[in-house]
Amino acid sequence: MSATSRCRICDGTVHEFFDFGRQPLSDAFVAPGDSREEFFFRLATGSCESCTMVQLMEEVPREAMFHESYPYLSSGSAFMRTHFEELAKRFLTTELTGADPFIVELGCNDGVMLKVIAEAGVRHLGVEPSGGVADLAAAKGVQVRKDFFEESTATDIRAKQGPADVIYAANTLCHIPYMGSILAGVTKLLGPNGVFVFEDPYLGDIVERNSFDQIYDEHFYFFTARSVQEMAARNGLELVDVERIPVHGGEVRYTLALRGARTPSPAVAELLAWEADRSLAERATLEKFGANVTQIRTDLIELLAKLRDEGKKVVAYGATAKSATVTNFCGIGPDLVSFISDTTPAKQNRLSPGTHIPVRTPADFANPYPDYALLFAWNHAEEIMAKEQDFRDAGGKWILYVPDVHVV
Ligand code: SAH
Ligand code: TYD
Ligand code: ZN
Repeated sequence: MSATSRCRICDGTVHEFFDFGRQPLSDAFVAPGDSREEFFFRLATGSCESCTMVQLMEEVPREAMFHESYPYLSSGSAFMRTHFEELAKRFLTTELTGADPFIVELGCNDGVMLKVIAEAGVRHLGVEPSGGVADLAAAKGVQVRKDFFEESTATDIRAKQGPADVIYAANTLCHIPYMGSILAGVTKLLGPNGVFVFEDPYLGDIVERNSFDQIYDEHFYFFTARSVQEMAARNGLELVDVERIPVHGGEVRYTLALRGARTPSPAVAELLAWEADRSLAERATLEKFGANVTQIRTDLIELLAKLRDEGKKVVAYGATAKSATVTNFCGIGPDLVSFISDTTPAKQNRLSPGTHIPVRTPADFANPYPDYALLFAWNHAEEIMAKEQDFRDAGGKWILYVPDVHVV
């Protein structure tokens, strides 16, 4: 019998389907010489036999992950900047055209989306518990509340600023285990015809692409149209639209409205049918995914060990949160990958969590170029490969591990 836990959405039984073992916090880069013990937990995934929600078996305390020095910057990719700016413009011409519209963003990070809203002079509020990134948003002219969004926050915002036309969250809702409190807050804060729009990595893409590194401490839920529909219905909301979006390796943007307020678009039924067709939430599918992940680990370690034995220089590109799962699950340390190149100031000159691979700057990547670069930021492959054409011209090769281990 596999391990079980209680579903954070419906209290049903969650059955474990994959165990990544002992893992550190994915964004806790270690300062050299810092001898404090790192935080470890057991990273494992399960699916709920009642509502089908795929979720982590163990929860990490939120303050351990999201704090003053949380290093992730939303503006770190040009492609993502454009993505958020375009969505902001879309909100401005669709949902935010009333007399005095109001939009609230959960997890606004460095303000990449809300900056456009602020510049348009539209009332907005970012709710962002990580102080350092919240300060960056404020410096862009964005109104920020340094706080965790939950029911009490929502009640307070509604009392002070009135109902919201849009509540938006990108790559944030899936980070929040306490969903009952969040959705209670959303129903209190939304105006009668308001929408709650959120986008997160899609289980359909994760399973189809074997992108197991989407699984780490911060990603607690792995949504599907099916599980989101049920989660909405349990909390007075309704799933009224879905849109597959080509960011971070495949996400879905879900739109929820208060129950009965809007007519669901045909896209909802279409995605539900697509998921049923693929038996997405079924154990056999998830267990097959687990078997593929184990194979990827074997293949990746074998390739890296072979390159080391041949005397090739291998570095990694992008000190992603995702890579904490790859390095710790596969046992990849500085003996196999000499350093990780990353543009984020708060990650540079630190060590990767758990496996302690040094993080260096893009200048180090080019000086001189390595023989191989293991692309941890594979979700930004197009952008990165285009900008690193010189690496390729110098004979460099990229190593990818999703959907399988291959060299390009
Ligand atoms: N929306 C950005 C940032 C995603 S990172 C993007 O898509 O790039 C996730 C963010 O959620 C972090 O900045 C973290 O501090 C924030 N967060 C975590 N829990 C939260 C909560 N309860 N309410 C609001 N933000 C939260
Ligand atoms: P990302 O894949 O967006 O998210 P996560 O950390 O949640 O897995 O992280 C991309 C990382 O790669 C981030 O640390 C910035 C870095 N990066 C570069 O170093 N160079 C680049 O050109 C891009 C696009 C990202
Ligand atoms: Zn459930």
